[in-house]
Formats: sequence, structure tokens, C-alpha cells
Amino acid sequence: RTGARVERLPLSRFTTLGVGGEAEVWFVETHEQLREAMEQPYRILGGGSNLVIADEGVPERVIRLSGPLAERDLTPDPHLSEDPWVVTGWVGGGVPLPGLIRQLQKLGLSGLEGTVGIPAQVGGAVWMNAGTRYGEMFDGLHTLEIVTPEGTRQVTPDDLSWGYRDSGIPRNHVVTRVRLKLRRAAPEEVLAKMDFADQARKGQPKMKTPGCAFKNPGGVSAGKLIDEAGLKGSRVGNALIAPEHANFIVNLGGATAADVHALLGLIRERVPVPMELEYELWP
Ligand code: FAD
Ligand code: EPU
Repeated sequence: RTGARVERLPLSRFTTLGVGGEAEVWFVETHEQLREAMEQPYRILGGGSNLVIADEGVPERVIRLSGPLAERDLTPDPHLSEDPWVVTGWVGGGVPLPGLIRQLQKLGLSGLEGTVGIPAQVGGAVWMNAGTRYGEMFDGLHTLEIVTPEGTRQVTPDDLSWGYRDSGIPRNHVVTRVRLKLRRAAPEEVLAKMDFADQARKGQPKMKTPGCAFKNPGGVSAGKLIDEAGLKGSRVGNALIAPEHANFIVNLGGATAADVHALLGLIRERVPVPMELEYELWP
């Protein structure tokens, strides 16, 4: 045994929706512990901000990157950095994104500020190339380290076929750490861009939610389509299609995964345009 901490825990505790039954959670701090955890069927849990987890939980091991895999070294690498570009040391997949974005702003490092307000971990945000209209994770990546049961490899964004909300990395390939490639800029300039991007969130609900339910089909706002179908305010059990923005389903308190699934079904039934789900449903 490699000494990873393993505990049976309710996953609701780890999700922004506040829903999800129990599973065996593996807190892995080293590559060795990660490899051991991957010897049996597993899932990767990041910030839990894009997940709808069944009330029964999941039978697989749930891996959470912790300790050194949730630490960051933002020191510019002297061999890879060339003014005005800075390539950082390694940033762990388990690092919370919002704190990282604030830290980069203070250091005057520009490139990722468009992702302000995304409540993810770095690994989860990279895995799905989280973003907003003002920028996405792949705007600031130099190298990615990816671990699979077959081994560890390093890739660059050019090696992947990434796009809107998609890194091209297969599910269950773990983004353990990344090096960032950023541009030196005045901290005030970075802050101004962050504030501007944040304005777009003013109309988003403040309640427990896993973010937008559907990807925007062909650049059209899925929220607008759901709104036009007259579905704002629809409620099943304790889940509600937010009156503020129709692509957000919120937990009014005590919602179940089944409530959320029912609302997703209603949206699919009523919106005439096919839309791809953005959430991940477990199982
Ligand atoms: P999780 O939800 O934990 O997991 C999501 C997927 O990523 C799962 O498949 C999981 O296995 C995988 N994963 C997690 N960590 C890793 C890893 N280290 N390696 C490989 N795979 C991994 N998203 C946007 O894109 N733009 C937004 O503007 C936005 N706004 C949001 C606002 C709110 C209030 C909320 C709650 C969510 C919002 N989201 C937004 C959705 C969510 O934050 C993103 O999808 C985010 O990328 C999810 O990251 P996570 O770490 O929480 O991943
Ligand atoms: N709109 C409506 N009704 C609604 C929702 C939106 O009419 O219920 C209209 C708005 O008035 C606006 C347009 O649709 O004219 C676009 O809305 P918004 O600015 O909210 O942007 P969005 O396309 O709905 C996207 C991302 C968000 C991201 C924001 C801001 C997707 C699926 N959504 O929303 O990302 O925060 O832009 O950049 O790409 C997420 O991915 O989870 C997410 C929250």
C-alpha cells in the first residue's frame, strides 16, 4: 500500500450542487498513490462544480488530487521564459482555480483572467477547457502532464484537438499538473480585464448549482433557447430552472439528482434545437 488516505464519504459535500450519495474517496498526494488508486475502476473528482451525482453515490473509487498535487510553483522557468512570456513551474491539478486567478493578477501575469468566477480545480477546468466569452483555460497552457493506467506523459496544447468546452483529453485520463504560459502585464490591466469578464456573471443565479446545464449550440445561448421555450421557473421537487438565467438549474435545498434529471428531460423535450449536455452525470 502506498498510504493514500481512503474514506467513505457523501459526495454531496464535494459538489457545488450539493447533491450526491456516498463513495470511496481516495485522496492521492503522489503519482505512486494515484497509480495505486487507478488499479480498480475509478472516477476523478475536481472541484465538483460540473457534476450531478446520483443519490445512491457511485461504486467506483473517486480520486481527489491533494497535498503536493494541489500545490503550485509560479516561479518563472528561466529556460522556457522569454520576455514578455513567462512559463511557470508546475501547478497541481488539485489547485483551486479562483485563488490561482487572483494570485496571477497580483503577480501581473496575464492570459487566464477571462476564466474569472469559474469555481473549478485546475485539472477539471483544463480537462473540459472551461471558459467564458473572454477567455478559456487553453489560452494559458504551456505543458500538461497526463496520467493514465498505462503511464505518465507530457503534452502541449498543439498535441490535443481542443475547442469550446473540450480539451480532447479522454475521460479518466488525469491532468495531474500543468505549466502555464502567460504574458507579463501591469496588475491593474489584468484586474480591469477580470472585472470586465465578471460583469457577464451579474445575471447568473447565486444559489447551489453546477453551472450551465447545456453547451451553447452553434454559439447560440442555450439559456436563451430554454427561456424562449417558456421554461424559466419550472420546478421538479426542490430543483428549479433559475428565473435569472434559464441554463442554470439550482438546488432550492434538499434537491435530488432525480429532480435535476427530470428538469433536464423537460428541457430536451421542449427546446426544438438539439443541445449537448455540459454537466457530467454520475453514474
Ligand atoms: P468536476 O466538476 O469535479 O469534474 C468535471 C469533469 O472533469 C469530470 O469528468 C471529472 O472527472 C473531470 N476532472 C476533474 N478533475 C480532473 C483532472 N484533474 N483530470 C482529468 N479530469 C478531471 N464552466 C465554464 O466553462 N464557464 C463558466 O463560466 C462557468 N461558470 C460556472 C459558474 C458556477 C456558479 C458553477 C457552479 C459552475 C460554472 N461552470 C462554468 C462549470 C464548472 O465550473 C466547469 O465545468 C469546471 O471546469 C469544472 O471543473 P471541476 O474541477 O469542478 O470539475
Ligand atoms: N439570455 C436570455 N435568457 C436566459 C439566459 C440568457 O434571453 O435565460 C440571453 C441574454 O440576455 C444574452 C444571451 O442570452 O443576450 C447570452 O447570455 P449570457 O451572457 O448569460 O451568456 P451565455 O451564452 O448564456 C455563456 C457561458 C457561461 C459564461 C457566460 C459568460 C455557456 C454554455 N455558457 O453563457 O458559462 O459564464 O457565457 O461568459 O457557454 C458554464 O459554461 O457553465 C457557464 C456558466
